[in-house]
Amino acid sequence: MGLRADLRTTRQLTLLRAGTLGLALAGDPVARLFQAPWKADPYATYARLRCDRGLTWSRSGLWVASTYADAHDVLRDRGFGVRLSSGAQPFDVTGGPVHEGTEPNVLELSLLGLDPPDHGRLRRLATPAFSARRIEALRPTVEATADRLLDRLDVRRGTDLVAGFASPLPVAVISDLLAIPAADAQQFAAWGHTLGAALDGVTSVPHQRRMLRAQTDLRVLFERLVDERRRDPGDDLLSRLASAAESEVRPGEHVTVDEVVSLAQLLLLAGFETTTNLIGNAVRALHQHPEQQELVREDPGLAARVVTETLRHDPPVQLTARVAHEPRTVGGQQVRRDQVVLVLLGSTGRDEAEHEDADDFDLTRPEGRDTLAFSGGAHYCVGAPLARLEGEVALRRLFERWPHLAPAGRAVERGTTVIRGWRRLPVRAA
Ligand code: HEM
Repeated sequence: MGLRADLRTTRQLTLLRAGTLGLALAGDPVARLFQAPWKADPYATYARLRCDRGLTWSRSGLWVASTYADAHDVLRDRGFGVRLSSGAQPFDVTGGPVHEGTEPNVLELSLLGLDPPDHGRLRRLATPAFSARRIEALRPTVEATADRLLDRLDVRRGTDLVAGFASPLPVAVISDLLAIPAADAQQFAAWGHTLGAALDGVTSVPHQRRMLRAQTDLRVLFERLVDERRRDPGDDLLSRLASAAESEVRPGEHVTVDEVVSLAQLLLLAGFETTTNLIGNAVRALHQHPEQQELVREDPGLAARVVTETLRHDPPVQLTARVAHEPRTVGGQQVRRDQVVLVLLGSTGRDEAEHEDADDFDLTRPEGRDTLAFSGGAHYCVGAPLARLEGEVALRRLFERWPHLAPAGRAVERGTTVIRGWRRLPVRAA
């Protein structure tokens, strides 16, 4: 990218920032979700939005679904998809107009960015590996990985739980599933973090460069791995995906090598920044609610409940978006073709119409309707059973070992909107 393109990018980003600040100051809820200081507490913005009847119109040019009922309806309605009628994606998270001529973001390339029929064709390739039975069979491996990481944590003196446990655990589990060599797996955490942060949009030219570099490097690595597994397959998920490339997966259905490469990248990336933040948000919630941690101390078997309650109360993925493929009516409002609805997954768990005292973190609350933290409808998270298993094992093993685990210094938030969580979580055994 040349100097002129850099200057253009900087100018566009400055205008975008000024525009977002202006809208946020004027009270626009969507701008506030992406703008400090409001973005630190999205739940306050969500609460205001849920007071509106039906969808809210944002001056940034999109509809917002904030209640469980509206979000549920949009996600499950086949009249909504993820692409505009032109075939383009509604948002360009790699920086919008600033990166003309470069590839779309890797997270948008595969399932997340596809509509039927391509979406179903590729999704059918991935889902068998994540069936409840297959995932449960991974439990001993996940437990062994968690124990190995916990053995190395210096919790007596105080340590960062994110760097030492919440981040490496999901990386190790998904690398294991795809049989990715340990040396490569180390790189993934760094790339995943860069690409996950880019979901909020790029913030500067250096940020854009880092993001594009991470994207290219990851793609090159996966092209190599897929090529190797096609020639010399093993008994792993990546080999199974690779062997499907260029062959007929179902009568009349093919997948290309490129599609397999994108799918493998998505599996890797979708699977670990999210799970890292599930573990981090859960531990943080327990620290902020000592009476709830006391319940877990008495019964570490509550770990699965902690996962469910965290997904409701403070989920790692806060929002997604859908495009109306035809005129739709949601919450009494008319959504026109090609209009975008921002679906606030993080708001749905705080909806008082669904959960009494929804702002409380309470492990004893009765199970509600299925969480939307994993989305819903066609794009429902493929890895949900794995995420739940990893979360449960991580929290159970952690609190069995150190029932009095306590905060040890200043926790640092990630500061991103789409993915919500903690960058640093210092803890020690009390
Ligand atoms: C706590 C952890 C996780 C959370 C909160 C989460 C959340 C989500 C959400 C909200 C979506 C749908 C986005 C949309 O509707 O636009 C999604 C999709 C997806 N997730 Fe997860 N996820 C988690 C873990 C995982 C894991 C462990 C994997 C796999 C290893 C995974 C793989 C995927 C894939 C492949 C999709 C795309 C599905 C599609 O578009 O059809 N996720 N996830």
